[in-house]
Amino acid sequence: MDCTGLTAVVVGGGQGIGREICLKLAAQGADIVVADISAGTGGVAEEVRQIGRQALAVYTDLRQEASVQAMANSAVERFGTVHCLVNSSGIVGGLGQIDEFSLEEWNESLSVNLTGMFLTCRYLLPGLKQQGGSIVNIASVAGRRPLKGRSPYCTTKAAVLGFTRSLAMDLGEFGIRVNAVSPGRVEGPRIEKTLHHGAAQAGMEFEDYVEHLKSQTPLHTFIPPGAVADSVAFLCSPASAFMTGADLFVNAGSYMV
Ligand SMILES: NC(=O)c1ccc[n+]([C@@H]2O[C@H](COP(=O)([O-])OP(=O)(O)OC[C@H]3O[C@@H](n4cnc5c(N)ncnc54)[C@H](O)[C@@H]3O)[C@@H](O)[C@H]2O)c1
Repeated sequence: MDCTGLTAVVVGGGQGIGREICLKLAAQGADIVVADISAGTGGVAEEVRQIGRQALAVYTDLRQEASVQAMANSAVERFGTVHCLVNSSGIVGGLGQIDEFSLEEWNESLSVNLTGMFLTCRYLLPGLKQQGGSIVNIASVAGRRPLKGRSPYCTTKAAVLGFTRSLAMDLGEFGIRVNAVSPGRVEGPRIEKTLHHGAAQAGMEFEDYVEHLKSQTPLHTFIPPGAVADSVAFLCSPASAFMTGADLFVNAGSYMV
């Protein structure tokens, strides 16, 4: 998973799985652009510098084309080129039946989870084309096996897989590999809201519901965020030089094909 000499833009790097990806790639030798709307962006960049790598924090709102374009320009200005783009941003979006959330909530999910990914790829493409590189899109098991009451999220994650494969077809001739990582439930604050929603729907106590979900995976566990970061580092590194259009499952066996 050696990433020495690479520059990686990590979109959604300001917290959660994205932060873990920033720190993992830095530990493997990459310089990092932390692109996020989150207030944590500067702190993660500082953590990267403490590892000994260079870092740039860029406020980025994926819902605004100009913001994504400015981020891409800043990345190339600062580092000269970009070898890896990791799209880890995402929102849970509207929960419940489709008459229980608004059109605005639906559009927000499409905007952040899908169109934002299109924009980051679009505006970083000139830099990536210069020497080839790797794009890694964080999808979800939910893109393959929908979850009840989560149609905006599941729809966008299924689309991310289609987008990933389409880009893999289009960009191979430029030496750009495009792959997805599909995590199962990842430990951390982000899934608390959906777990509470699920527990209420199932009529179960929160802790019982969590244990029930874990027991449904062959490995009886949720996923530590560092495990997702390991797979991303592999897909950014030369170790995966012959992989494109793939979807790596990091899901404790909760879904298999
Ligand atoms: N946590 C899980 O269980 C899980 C499981 C499968 C897939 N995923 C996916 O992994 C990725 C990371 O999830 P996470 O758990 O770290 O969530 P998170 O909420 O901690 O991180 C998501 C990041 O996206 C950023 N973001 C949201 N809206 C944005 C916008 N408009 N512009 C720029 N950035 C924006 C947030 O600021 C945040 O830093 C997401 O794509 C998520 O769908 C998570």
